[in-house]
Amino acid sequence: MDIHTPALDDYLLAHSTPADALLRELAAETAARWPRATSMQISHDEGEFLTMLTRLVGAGVAVEVGVFTGYSSLCIARGLAPGGRLIACDINEEWTALARVYWERAGVSDLVDLRIAPALDTLRSLPASPHIDFAFIDADKSGYLGYYDELVPRMRPGGVIALDNVLQGGRVVDPSFTDPVTEAVRAVNTRIAADPRVSTTMLPMRDGVTLL
Ligand SMILES: C[S@@+](CC[C@H](N)C(=O)[O-])C[C@H]1O[C@@H](n2cnc3c(N)ncnc32)[C@H](O)[C@@H]1O
Repeated sequence: MDIHTPALDDYLLAHSTPADALLRELAAETAARWPRATSMQISHDEGEFLTMLTRLVGAGVAVEVGVFTGYSSLCIARGLAPGGRLIACDINEEWTALARVYWERAGVSDLVDLRIAPALDTLRSLPASPHIDFAFIDADKSGYLGYYDELVPRMRPGGVIALDNVLQGGRVVDPSFTDPVTEAVRAVNTRIAADPRVSTTMLPMRDGVTLL
């Protein structure tokens, strides 16, 4: 099921603030080194969206679940309020080594606290009080529900969580797909829509982004 056409995707990109040279270089280096994994990276327009959201929230404390080679972290770090920090969670040393290179080159490495461990452990180790302004979830889909459950009580009132890939290429509405990833994403989508603690909207940006 197509939720976008290539022509419309091109049009969206052409009418969004373009990625700067450093982000384009990171995308190109990622594609050259890990061609089969490169689709995990968010798109340029989504990156701009993350920077904008982080700024709009005035985020002093941000959390990212799923770093890969650092594209989205860099976009979030650039939107942080002065003195802000980003706790970045991943389990892969090799991919995040490239992220560190680009955070350094972008001048944001002091703002990023990379935690190499299963994200559920990292989130559980954070203070239980509401202190997070912005969070972005973009890791293993089977973990989304757990990440959501750990993050929501830690969000300050008015804080924002964004979840990526909530449409799964449209598979969420096709009952013939019963694979664990699709089922996991359906479960978190259902939980969020019914959660009285949050207000939420699902955006058809790329593979679907839920904001709450
Ligand atoms: C879709 S990629 C993230 C893409 C990234 N947001 C970007 O824009 O480049 C998913 C990442 O989640 C990480 N990941 C998978 N399982 C994880 C877990 N249990 N805890 C933390 N990170 C995990 C992977 O190593 C991978 O880097």
